[in-house]
Amino acid sequence: LTAKGGKALLVVDADPDSNLPDVLGVSVDRTIGDTREFMFRERDNLPPDTNKESLLESKIYEILVEMPRFDLLVMGRPEGSGCYCYVNNLLRGIMDRITKNYDLVLIDTAAGLEHLSRRIIRDIDELLVVTDGSRRGLQTAERIRNLAVSLDLNIKNLHVVANKVTPENRDRIEEYARELKMDLVGVVPFDEVLAQFDLEGKPVTGLPEDSGALLGVREIVRKMGL
Ligand SMILES: Nc1ncnc2c1ncn2[C@@H]1O[C@H](COP(=O)(O)OP(=O)(O)OP(=O)(O)O)[C@@H](O)[C@H]1O
Ligand SMILES: [Mg+2]
Repeated sequence: LTAKGGKALLVVDADPDSNLPDVLGVSVDRTIGDTREFMFRERDNLPPDTNKESLLESKIYEILVEMPRFDLLVMGRPEGSGCYCYVNNLLRGIMDRITKNYDLVLIDTAAGLEHLSRRIIRDIDELLVVTDGSRRGLQTAERIRNLAVSLDLNIKNLHVVANKVTPENRDRIEEYARELKMDLVGVVPFDEVLAQFDLEGKPVTGLPEDSGALLGVREIVRKMGL
């Protein structure tokens, strides 16, 4: 996505166990979670004529990291105890406005179903469920699909990506996906170079052009017409 350029891209790391900045080689010092916490703490101490929504919005723009080919926002820690409805409602409106500035918004969520069942992320055009190349992984993907359908989440398309696929298990995965009637939009091979990058803490933006994982992802981007 970043290689093609031309499109305004916002990347959101919505996993509380945030590691996308490291993976992308970006350093981030403050998160939306910190800002939410600030508003929650200070809400009664602010001068009465403060426009809280504008204040929060300006703080979110301060933590937005602008890179040459994409912008990055990190959600960070989940809310603490107490009633965050007020701040969260402000945040929803602000996020709706911010995302309108971009052609593409790519959100990486935590594994599992919670962000879907809590309806934190809404109006999704393309939901990509990334699983490893195991039977159980595909079964989880199927549960996510069924949940998305039953919650009526307004997701236009749902696809599955099988990651860390080996030549030995590729056919079986494709066959099982067909059996489950899942739209397997692509497979990403297990990539030794990527595994090495991870061990050395190198960002994936430096992967060589012939990296298997990169080629697999490129093919998915092409198929999805992004
Ligand atoms: N295709 C691949 N080839 C080799 N290693 C990979 C591949 N994909 C991911 N990895 C490695 O596997 C680990 C987990 O990958 P990743 O962070 O993408 O998983 P995740 O599903 O997002 O995990 P989580 O659910 O915890 O967020 C990382 O160390 C990553 O470098
Ligand atoms: Mg992850």
